[in-house]
Amino acid sequence: MQAFSRKLRSGDKTIGLVPTMGALHEGHLSLVRRSKDENSATVASIFVNPAQFGPNEDLNRYPGDMDGDLNKLSGLMTDAVFIPDGKEMYPEGPVSSINVGHIGEILCGASRPGHFDGVATIVAKLFDAVMPHKAYFGQKDYQQTVVIKKLVKEHDLNIYIVVCPIERETDGLAMSTRNSYLKPDERKSAGVLYKALKHGERLISKGIKDISQLKTDIEKVIKSEPLVKIGYIEIVDPESLDVMEQFSIPAVICLAVKIGSTRLIDNVIIE
Ligand code: PAJ
Repeated sequence: MQAFSRKLRSGDKTIGLVPTMGALHEGHLSLVRRSKDENSATVASIFVNPAQFGPNEDLNRYPGDMDGDLNKLSGLMTDAVFIPDGKEMYPEGPVSSINVGHIGEILCGASRPGHFDGVATIVAKLFDAVMPHKAYFGQKDYQQTVVIKKLVKEHDLNIYIVVCPIERETDGLAMSTRNSYLKPDERKSAGVLYKALKHGERLISKGIKDISQLKTDIEKVIKSEPLVKIGYIEIVDPESLDVMEQFSIPAVICLAVKIGSTRLIDNVIIE
């Protein structure tokens, strides 16, 4: 991988990297398209990273579709696909890891201890392997984008992080590999996430600034679907992810829910 990238770099070509865990959908492909637009060469990576899954999470049933993924990526004329195996990424097992500290312990990190350390560690290793100029991440995983930006800043990595908009299904549900776990009635109820976020956005545009009122009203919308169990609803500062006590713009409304055993997240940025 490095030899391929070095050759491109010596020819003054720019490289865009799109890290993924496979089972590609339109959300992933939108990142690839954006990278194609902005770079001479685009590399996608596919690696289901054990280090970011908790012991009771879905590592063992995480969907995979290598043939389908490669077809989709070649359809977009992706220049290379990096598909390391576990041994290649962690030859000695996961010995050392990057600790992202507080930013990885709040919001999703509160119920997924070690998750963002696992993400930062693998992304740093993918950066080392691919040596991209730019790397593309989805706003869908908002906290992940903040963690990666922090990684880049603290390690002085010369990589520009591009955050791409959330691709949604027709009912507004953010596309996600994990949507495939939803049973039909659960899938139907999942549309309420985006509805709730849009409701919050509307209240803010009407001038409502009381954080607890906003959260209560968003919660009410979600609770209209009994199958959806709220993990958290927070209105946070876009850079620090600190929970706001006084509303100010810009802000991000973030939420996490469980529908059956499936954990889903979504957010909207208020600018
Ligand atoms: P994965 O869940 O496969 O997602 C890969 C990238 O696609 C992430 O940057 C994610 O935010 C983006 N993405 C997912 N759904 C999206 C949507 N609906 N719209 C736009 N972008 C979307 O995120 C990971 O993998 C991993 O944590 C990874 C960064 C690869 C590290 O292992």
